[in-house]
Amino acid sequence: MKALVLGGGGREHALIRVLSRDPGVTSLHSAPGNPGISANAENHVINTLDGLAVTELAARIGAELVVIGPEAPLVEGVADTLRERGIPVFGPDRAAARLEGSKSYAKEVMEAAGVPTARSRACKTPGQVADALEAFGPPYVVKNDGLAAGKGVVVTEDRSAAEQHARECGRVVVEEYLDGPEVSLFVLCDGTNAVPMLPAQDFKRAYDGDEGPNTGGMGAYTPLPWAPPALVDGVMETMVRPTIREMAKRGNRYQGLLYVGLALTSAGPRVVEFNARFGDPEAQVVLDRLATPIGALLQASDTGGLGGIASLEWREGAAVTLVLAAENYPGDPVKGDPVTGLDAANAVEGAYVLHAGTAWSGVRDIKSNGGRVLNVVGTGDTLALARERAYDAIGRIELRGSFYRTDIAEKAAEGEG
Ligand code: AMP
Ligand code: GLY
Repeated sequence: MKALVLGGGGREHALIRVLSRDPGVTSLHSAPGNPGISANAENHVINTLDGLAVTELAARIGAELVVIGPEAPLVEGVADTLRERGIPVFGPDRAAARLEGSKSYAKEVMEAAGVPTARSRACKTPGQVADALEAFGPPYVVKNDGLAAGKGVVVTEDRSAAEQHARECGRVVVEEYLDGPEVSLFVLCDGTNAVPMLPAQDFKRAYDGDEGPNTGGMGAYTPLPWAPPALVDGVMETMVRPTIREMAKRGNRYQGLLYVGLALTSAGPRVVEFNARFGDPEAQVVLDRLATPIGALLQASDTGGLGGIASLEWREGAAVTLVLAAENYPGDPVKGDPVTGLDAANAVEGAYVLHAGTAWSGVRDIKSNGGRVLNVVGTGDTLALARERAYDAIGRIELRGSFYRTDIAEKAAEGEG
């Protein structure tokens, strides 16, 4: 199988890495890709938001599978264009991707399907916002109704900060605060059938102890030793299958990856959000553990062939990923500085480096080119060993002003949630 992966972050590097391990995959391409990806795939420079440009590239290289990594091309309808041309694609059509692209649409679908989630109100005016904040009380949760790359949500005790975020966004969803640990569950969907992957946990705040601003994610690990054993089955029954059925009923068959962001509250699991693509950096650890060859699975999501797959196979042990962030992330990150020590990090047993926001500097050297620069993955028989290896490896990397969290998977490695 010839495959093309759209995107150029750590999630896409992880996808390329597992696709390259799949004996059924004969050639790999990416657009735009990144320097790390170029070890396993040919990178192409095209506008990945342009369905015609993507289709043209896919046709030229004879792609039998196009995997859409980020949400933006999905929301633009790139999957629709590929499907119209009969090119198998992993990712939902534009209409189905609204589960991620519009918070109010996602809430409407969840309500119709009876999916447990936070109570919420869609608001357009400051008066509606004020009423909703009053009704739900603190801590206040205000979400931009459109795509915001994981940064459109403000959770705060400060009412004026909540109101200001609403003013800056325009249309928002205000909702009740959900407490309890968060879990990310990825589910492969073919419009009718749904197959869950391993649950993972992400760390959204920038600094240790869950302090600082919300980010797209500073680290992740899988599996979750503290999670209730029935969690995944329960989420599939009460959340995923009803959502897939409701989407099909609306004529928006959901094909591709459904990312269920959960809060395990004292009243039971609740959906915090749906996303239409793999989470980043959770994908880096979940894909690492997948033993089932991935190419045919991703293709089956397009052809309706997931029905024959009851469950996936997983490698024993654990994976932890750490994000090396640039100075000033998530604000206005510093770019263009040399990144060194990658070979030393890759030499740590059980650890490897994925590129997220990097670029070539000359023909051999690497420079920073984004907020989240690298993902260092550590693996091992236990979470504690995976963690130790990840931290050993990241300590060998040099990037002026960069930082990472030192407490990723710490509690879980000690057996706590
Ligand atoms: P979202 O973009 O909806 O994923 O939200 C980003 C992050 O904001 C989530 O991962 C949570 O950490 C936090 N968040 C979102 N909604 C809520 C909520 N209702 N209660 C508490 N935290 C929330
Ligand atoms: N790690 C959170 C996300 O991908 O949205």
